[in-house]
Amino acid sequence: MTGRKRVAVLASGGGSNLQAVLDHLATIGEARASEVVLVVAGREEAGAIARAKRAGVPIAVSAPDGLAALLVGHAIDIVVLAGYLAFVPDDVTRTWAGRIINIHPALLPSFGGHGLYGLRVHRAVLATGARVSGATVHFVDAEYDRGPIIAQWPVPVAGDDTPESLAARVLRVEHLLLPRAVEALASGAVTLGEDGRVRGGRAAAADLSFSLNDTDDATLAHGIDALFAR
Ligand code: GRF
Repeated sequence: MTGRKRVAVLASGGGSNLQAVLDHLATIGEARASEVVLVVAGREEAGAIARAKRAGVPIAVSAPDGLAALLVGHAIDIVVLAGYLAFVPDDVTRTWAGRIINIHPALLPSFGGHGLYGLRVHRAVLATGARVSGATVHFVDAEYDRGPIIAQWPVPVAGDDTPESLAARVLRVEHLLLPRAVEALASGAVTLGEDGRVRGGRAAAADLSFSLNDTDDATLAHGIDALFAR
């Protein structure tokens, strides 16, 4: 396929979501609609950098005020925030409106916003006694964790969960959900309408599976694929 969308992945942490995107695109091969051409990390020691190096993807460490120019310089079509903790300035969210997405490890609009990242999200979920958490991919706008939701997948909360065990269960879903959302956006299966609402991508929302423990990755991936079926 020609004319692949040029994707920048912004990551501050271990970069396992970055890895999931890289692996998924490699698995699709020639038919993929997107290509990761840049990894941006908030700090030099980010695990994401090591993963990008291994994959041969160019890396940049950027302060927030240099971000827009960096992305323009690499002719980036789509910006993916994958565990990116640094501030994303307004000029970036404006310029890439409808082309910038984030993954959040809970079911937004619950358990999102300032200060809710990483294990803090899962601690907050457990503190409420919520029985269901999940993963959300959403468009990014000027307000933290508030942009239009593209896709969600529920994850059960177990009675004896720790923040770490819940994080691991949610992360498994994130790794399946994010790469598919990237491809859906790149292929045009999902778009952000002029009215600020998401088009496409919700067909299978009613078909949610709560029995994660009994569901193998292939079955889960199949269900999540259906979220993005045209
Ligand atoms: C993920 O849970 C992501 O949703 C959150 O931070 C974590 C990053 O994990 N925003 P990784 O760096 O992709 O391994």
